[in-house]
Amino acid sequence: MINDQKRKMLLGITGGIAAYKSAFLLRLLKKTDVDIQVVMTEAATQFISKLTMQALSGKPVYDNMWAEEQGHGMAHIETSRGCRLILVAPASANFISKLATGTANDLLSTICLARNCELLIAPAMNKEMWDNKSTQRNIETLKRDGVHIVGPVGGDQACGEVGLGRMAEPETIYETTLKFFQPRLFKNKKIVITAGGTFEKIDAVRGITNQSSGRMGFAIAQAAIEYGAEVILIVGTHSASPPIGCELVKVQSAADMLAAVLDHIETTDIFISAAAVSDYRAKETVSHKLKKDSQFLHQLQLEPTEDILKKISTMKNSPFCVGFAAETENLEKNAQDKRQLKNIPLIVGNLIPQAIGSDFNELLLIDKNGIHKLPRDTKIKHAKNLLNHISKIYE
Ligand SMILES: Cc1cc2nc3c(=O)[nH]c(=O)nc-3n(C[C@H](O)[C@H](O)[C@H](O)COP(=O)(O)O)c2cc1C
Repeated sequence: MINDQKRKMLLGITGGIAAYKSAFLLRLLKKTDVDIQVVMTEAATQFISKLTMQALSGKPVYDNMWAEEQGHGMAHIETSRGCRLILVAPASANFISKLATGTANDLLSTICLARNCELLIAPAMNKEMWDNKSTQRNIETLKRDGVHIVGPVGGDQACGEVGLGRMAEPETIYETTLKFFQPRLFKNKKIVITAGGTFEKIDAVRGITNQSSGRMGFAIAQAAIEYGAEVILIVGTHSASPPIGCELVKVQSAADMLAAVLDHIETTDIFISAAAVSDYRAKETVSHKLKKDSQFLHQLQLEPTEDILKKISTMKNSPFCVGFAAETENLEKNAQDKRQLKNIPLIVGNLIPQAIGSDFNELLLIDKNGIHKLPRDTKIKHAKNLLNHISKIYE
């Protein structure tokens, strides 16, 4: 498990046109509470000044293994100590080659060789340099060595050519970097999450559904991935985009959703039911399209669907179950009643006008210790707060 106390990283910059983007990247990283030390190669200083990076980072930039004032003469070892991550962005073809062979002939390459933390690189170069067999061989070596790589991406290049080799955008590198600083709360845990709505068929075109966008369940899945869990995301109807990095199971009806949950539940540690599952479905369905004035539609008969959460929570050896209560009124009471009825340790209450389709909402977490109010915030922040809360009561 990563030591969560480590909030320090090193930003290495090597000699490539994309070095100017490192200034944007550093500005983004400075918004976090992570302590950042910049180290530049000599070539990098030809592309962007040390002064710029020093002003943005708020401390002297290191670039010389032989300068005693840089790291008390042992900068090549000490600079990375206490760091969770070394990020090299841009990583030149030359630097990638040095990493692959263990070359240590300047400060940054020596620090990388002497590191005891994770290494993430963002390659950036002309497309022929990237495609060159030697670069590709070096990249394969680095992957095997456990080095993390973000990009490159395709598009217009500074040299006028078009192809793969551009450095990933600073925002992408920033997001990738943040993942190294997430607590690994759910490492080795399997979490099944349902999200979105369901569609209960009536005829060939009609059905019963709801307006769930899937956003809350997707935010929880995203946070669970970042917290190191193996995530199975079972999703019905939705309008938002599911996160990458999990196993996505697409379903349509409540019965399909239950079947998918049952497929995975035996080996699941935590089940989070965030989907807006239809409570009713048509008692009978027809395979053709019904006429507008059909008697069948006038007297549509409904029957209840099976309660997925209750079914799972009352199973023998059931996983830790978390439910959602979306209500238009009496949120507190209705959510509390639902927690008891479903026999679950934790329920999350939210009011429907805010809950559906929006990126923001307010939540009530209700467990055996009482009610915990989470004021209006983004769904992704709530998802992290929810998982932090689960991690406290789960054991
Ligand atoms: C104008 C110019 C632009 C360059 N751009 C890149 C680049 O984008 N990527 C790359 O790998 N090398 C690029 N190079 C070559 C590197 O700067 C050169 O290989 C250098 O030795 C890299 O040193 P370093 O890896 O120690 O930083 C460029 C060179 C020049 C003169």
